Amino acid sequence: MSILEKHKKVETHATLLMVLAFIVVTIGGLVQIVPLFYIENTIEKVDGMRPYTPLELAGRDIYVREGCYGCHSQMIRPMRDEVARYGHYSLAAESMYDHPFQWGSKRTGPDLARVGGRYSDEWHRDHLYDAKSVVPESVMPPYGFLFDREIDGRYIEGVVKTNAFVGVPYTEDMIANAQADFAAQADPNADSSGLQERYGSAAIQNGKDVNVRNFDGQPALTEGDALIAYLQVLGTMVDFSTFVPDPSR
Ligand code: HEC
Repeated sequence: MSILEKHKKVETHATLLMVLAFIVVTIGGLVQIVPLFYIENTIEKVDGMRPYTPLELAGRDIYVREGCYGCHSQMIRPMRDEVARYGHYSLAAESMYDHPFQWGSKRTGPDLARVGGRYSDEWHRDHLYDAKSVVPESVMPPYGFLFDREIDGRYIEGVVKTNAFVGVPYTEDMIANAQADFAAQADPNADSSGLQERYGSAAIQNGKDVNVRNFDGQPALTEGDALIAYLQVLGTMVDFSTFVPDPSR
């Protein structure tokens, strides 16, 4: 039997083809997956990464609730055009505290992985109210209602606890103070030393201090404050002026 005839047998026999294809796919899958169980840590450790503060975490939940990921990715791929446009490519470690991650695959709008610090809070406020007021050709919908919706963080302890449950290293201290830290971050007159002690540069090696200010510029603490606090920290935790990729990986 020539090799072509043998091959014909496989191609004309559905069950045999399925069994053989299954074996091939299984081997391919094992080759990809098994090594991950033996590498001590598949996520490169990077200085500066910290869990989100309670206010940022609430902002992240609003981002997910509003479906911003439907138009925005949060992963800069290591390709020249993306790095030139958005900044250093995303590291796995940068989304290790995201449950679920927001990488996304749709870019109706730009990637947001490094949008933190790129615009002022006022810009974000104007843009969320009415994107066309700052970018006339924008198709982004208006989100002004977020600035009318007050939040007090009475639920935030549970959210922080849930994230701790799935592996984010929130301490007992962070959980116990979640609601206080939530309010302190949006109030420049509040005592935010506890917040900084838990999440700021003193707590995190190479870390920066947490942004503390009135993000939406109005007296009430709103969903807009939380969302802007979240946007302003995106991609800013790792210091890329000193970051050196680990060559062993
Ligand atoms: C229908 C698609 C769509 C949705 C949904 C959407 N956006 Fe956008 N977004 C855009 C487009 C298009 C742009 C580019 C034009 C502009 O700046 O408005 C943009 C721009 C942005 C920018 C500026 C980025 C930059 O680097 O210039 C931010 C920040 C942003 N969006 C945040 C959000 C947030 C937060 C949400 C959810 C509350 C959201 N977007 C929902 C389409 C969308």
